[in-house]
Amino acid sequence: MKPGTESQTAVMVAAARAAAHGRTEVAAFTDPTALAMLPADVRRRIEQYRAGVPPKGLRSRVRRRLLEGRVKMMVPRTVAIDQVIRETASPQLVILGAGLDGRAWRMAELADTIVFEVDHPDSQRRKRERTASLQPAAREIRFVPVDFARDRLDDALAAAGHDPTRATTWVWEGVVMYLERADIEATLGVIQARSAAGSHLVILYTSPSLIRTVAGFVLGLIGEPWSRASRRAPAFCRPLSSLYSSASADCVRSAADSYSTAGSIARSPSVVYGVTARSASSTRR
Ligand SMILES: C[S@@+](CC[C@H](N)C(=O)[O-])C[C@H]1O[C@@H](n2cnc3c(N)ncnc32)[C@H](O)[C@@H]1O
Repeated sequence: MKPGTESQTAVMVAAARAAAHGRTEVAAFTDPTALAMLPADVRRRIEQYRAGVPPKGLRSRVRRRLLEGRVKMMVPRTVAIDQVIRETASPQLVILGAGLDGRAWRMAELADTIVFEVDHPDSQRRKRERTASLQPAAREIRFVPVDFARDRLDDALAAAGHDPTRATTWVWEGVVMYLERADIEATLGVIQARSAAGSHLVILYTSPSLIRTVAGFVLGLIGEPWSRASRRAPAFCRPLSSLYSSASADCVRSAADSYSTAGSIARSPSVVYGVTARSASSTRR
């Protein structure tokens, strides 16, 4: 990320959610919060898209095609993770690298849940400004500024009042591809240590491929390249399988299985993501 600026990839994925809200055939998808969380210039562009204003000029047409591609990616991934959160119904939800995630403001199912929004401080600052006028759906929202590569997640969560004796659903959506192996392992260690019986972990990751390596380099142009670890087997697979007994099977399972709830839109050929959700109930020491 460029120092001092919010994550541009977080803006890009939130823009896709804002574009899709009320306009996708996947009935389970909804995100009425995303538009309000966008920076003003991006919000205007999405409003034009939603109003059916055709793009003018090459640059706008390319931008529109990219947005439509991201909509195809974001709808199933959002629906799949929403479903895990609903099913696990934990009293605590920790969203790691939250970006402009709107779940704490839009999911009525979180009415009894404390949501911990963990993100890089530069990203989180802007989100706090833009969500100030939104009505929370969660029982409580606690902002926890953390740079995974520099700060101590464990201390930050403890200071924010996360209770390791109560079950937690952990969501790590679209973040691991930016992190190096050591930071992924350190974060998994904290998750393990703070997961009471009945906790769950959801990771949205990419499996390596040439096209995604290229995409990762292109994102480097906006200051958010994918890490070296993202070019090998999902970097968390080995550490995860030592923490959770059957995790390695999940790591190689096709993403299409995870997305069956969202139908054929999940089979976008250029972007294949996997969601892995494991219960930590058998691993708590
Ligand atoms: C692609 S966005 C995903 C945001 C959100 N999870 C979603 O799916 O809408 C990547 C997120 O990872 C966060 N991130 C990347 N590197 C980070 C780091 N070293 N420490 C903390 N957060 C980081 C960014 O701030 C950003 O919010």
